[in-house]
Amino acid sequence: MTEQHQPVPAPLHRPRRLRTTPAMRRLVAETSLSPDQLVLPVFIREGLSEPRPISSMPGVVQHTRKSLLAAVTEAAELGLGGVMLFGVPETRDATGSGALDPSGVLNLAITDVVAEVGDALTVMSDLCLDEFTDHGHCGVLGSDGRVDNDRTLALYAEMARAQAHAGVDVVGPSGMMDGQVRVVREALDASEHTDVSILAYSAKYASAFYGPFREAVDSTLEGDRRTYQQDPANVREGVREAQLDVAEGADVVMVKPALAYLDVVRAVREAVSVPVAAYNISGEYAMVEAAAEYGWIDREQAILETLTSIRRAGADIVLTYWASEAARLLAR
Ligand code: PBG
Repeated sequence: MTEQHQPVPAPLHRPRRLRTTPAMRRLVAETSLSPDQLVLPVFIREGLSEPRPISSMPGVVQHTRKSLLAAVTEAAELGLGGVMLFGVPETRDATGSGALDPSGVLNLAITDVVAEVGDALTVMSDLCLDEFTDHGHCGVLGSDGRVDNDRTLALYAEMARAQAHAGVDVVGPSGMMDGQVRVVREALDASEHTDVSILAYSAKYASAFYGPFREAVDSTLEGDRRTYQQDPANVREGVREAQLDVAEGADVVMVKPALAYLDVVRAVREAVSVPVAAYNISGEYAMVEAAAEYGWIDREQAILETLTSIRRAGADIVLTYWASEAARLLAR
């Protein structure tokens, strides 16, 4: 049977020419992805004798001191840009005092990691109280049960000093308290830590995608963070938050989560001149891992496509639990 289609005009333009071979596709790629741009978030849990798997984040663990050093050494060998440390203490209280204690789990881990890989990697630490408070909020609570912004700031200032004293390169204030960047900058400068940088979690949204992280840090949070984290409906507000943080002294601003907020990444990238980071968070990781586990998607391709999309949206730096693995995939 012969086909009876009407003759159609030949295309005037053939964009497919630029897709013909792998070398051609590499040549014209608009977006690059390299290990230097990736930061690996890691969890260190006080009192563990073995690394403990996080069931909602397959492949991610709560580290012991020893396994943490192995993970960051590998990260350095793979040429990553940095690591972001989260501490999970054994005991918690209303004001999160373990965060300020020089011998608290996070501060000790900073010193350990800097001693091990400080020349090869940028060492960053989460500057927030939620892992250290018994109620799981990012600050101290007022008599009305809400997070008291201004009383929390004083604790962030002290936490910043403690982390800087422990040797960290970059602090990451992630609690979404108004004025936190200014207070942290002043605390660092007043304690002769003028070279410690601030990566501000500027546009941080109250997101369902943080779910698996709550298991990662044994969170005790009840309720939500909607009175301090942003409403997912807003993009201009995210830009404003980033601009305020730059004005307060942020060296790098961050958008978080990444995937459901790629438009915010783009808008922030266009609005500021400091580097922009985006955090490919726990729920985004878990979705890909779960779908791959079911055989529904190609895991490795999905990882690289996800990270490329965040870079394409305008992120200079990407925080991702796949950082080490992505570096390995990129090397082949
Ligand atoms: C707060 C903090 C959170 C994450 C990073 N820092 C949790 C929250 O705000 O509820 C989430 C990271 C992730 O989900 O991967 N210290």
